[in-house]
Parts: sequence; C-alpha cells; structure tokens
Amino acid sequence: MKVIIQENYDKMCEWAANHIIKAINGHKENRPFVLGLPTGSSPIGVYRRLVAANKAGKVTFKNVVTFNMDEYVGLPREHDQSYWYFMHDNLFDHIDIPAENVNILNGMAEDLEAECAAYEEKIASYGGIDLFMGGIGVDGHLAFNEPYTSLSSRTGLRDLTSDTIIVNSRFFDHDPSKVPTRALSVGIGTVTDSRQVLVLISGHNKARALAATVEGGVSQKWTCSALQLHNDAIIACDEAACGELTVDTYKYFLDVYGSERL
Ligand code: GLP
Repeated sequence: MKVIIQENYDKMCEWAANHIIKAINGHKENRPFVLGLPTGSSPIGVYRRLVAANKAGKVTFKNVVTFNMDEYVGLPREHDQSYWYFMHDNLFDHIDIPAENVNILNGMAEDLEAECAAYEEKIASYGGIDLFMGGIGVDGHLAFNEPYTSLSSRTGLRDLTSDTIIVNSRFFDHDPSKVPTRALSVGIGTVTDSRQVLVLISGHNKARALAATVEGGVSQKWTCSALQLHNDAIIACDEAACGELTVDTYKYFLDVYGSERL
C-alpha cells in the first residue's frame, strides 16, 4: 500500500487531482477510461481542480465513464442532498463528460435489488473500473459499507448505522431524523476489484480510520482495511489524519514516498 502524506487538505487534493489527470491522459487503450467516484466533503477540492483542469484544456472527460459509489434510498435526484445532485453540482455540470457516461445508483428504483445487479453488470460490461477514488467514514466505512459488511460484498442495499446517520446529519439541518436510513452502495469487493484504488483521508476525525486502514489487521470491523489486500491501493492523506499512526509508520511512508510531497 502506498500512503502519500501531504501537509494539508489542499495539497492532498492537488496531489489526487494530478494523479487522476495523469491516469486519464495516460490511458491509451481503445476503450473508455472507467473512473469510480465518491461524494462527501473529502473529494470537493479534487473536483474543483478537475473542473479547472478541464476548462484549461489539460484533461478531457469525453472518453471517461464514471460509476459513483453510493446513493441514499428514497431521495429524489432533485433533492439537494442526493448524491446525484452533489455530483452534478460539484463536477458533472462543469466538465465535458457526455451525460450517458455518468452512472449513479438510483435510490428511487422500484426494484432496488435489480438496480444493484444491473450496476454490477454495467461495470463488468466496461471491463471493470480502472481507478476507484474513495473517501472514508469516521468509522472506516468505504462507500456505505459500514463496519461488519463482508469484505467481499457486491453492490447492494445497506442499512446505515446510527453513527453514520449522526455524522451525516450535518447536511440535513443537524437533524438525524431527516437522514435516510438506507442507501445503495457498491460493495467492498466491487471497489477492490478495480485496477487501482485511491482513498482520500483528511482531518483529525479520520485519524483512527487511517490507522486502522494502514496498521490494523484486515477486519470487517474496519471495512477500509480490505485495501491491504489490494495490490495497487493508494491512500492520499494529510498530516492531521496521521495523529494515530505510530511514529515508525509515519516516518516509513515519508521516507519511501516523501518525494511525492507538494
Ligand atoms: C458518506 C459517504 C462516503 C464518504 C463518507 C465520508 O457516508 N457515503 O462515501 O466517503 O461520507 O465523507 P466526508 O468526506 O464528508 O468525511
């Protein structure tokens, strides 16, 4: 696992955006580049930079197909807290990606199981995901794969834990009763099947999750720890998130990947 430690959130986002741009521009195969994407506050700085790079002609999304990680069940697209709305507001409305290349789970589908099965099939039809960018919850959830979700899970319906509902209530007038209790989410297996996984971990409140991802054992208690079994997993983090790493671990990654520091 590569852990790229940047000084702060902005530099972490700059590094991640540059990494994605290089991956898209370096893609020479005769098929679209398939990119997995997250929501949340962590990727916002990355999206801002991707929009700017697209407007400056440094990258095009015309040959990029995206699959988002998750979506709340029961929120219509137009709801300003739906992940469909978030993704269009922060990225898709501002770049040159063809609308038909954007894939987001439909949390309003009549048959939620069929929706999830079709999503997996569609990913497979593109030959899998080249690069899955993710964020992480305070409890280590990757997409909406809460603690104790199987590490080989596929796209499906998830119940959200009280912890996650409380954390996410900051986007719902700080009222947990307004937060949907269920979501559709890609599985841990769906993410780790991707050719490369890049997870953004920023801030003091993610320090325990970063330590569990990097130093803990592989455990369904911290679903993010499944990344230890991936042969091309990258964590881009900031100094604030490193607070629970041992000094040895922190020094090791600075020693080995310090040249990536911006
Ligand atoms: C939500 C999303 C996750 C995201 C997490 C962290 O629960 N379902 O995909 O990674 O929040 O969000 P943030 O980046 O805002 O801390």
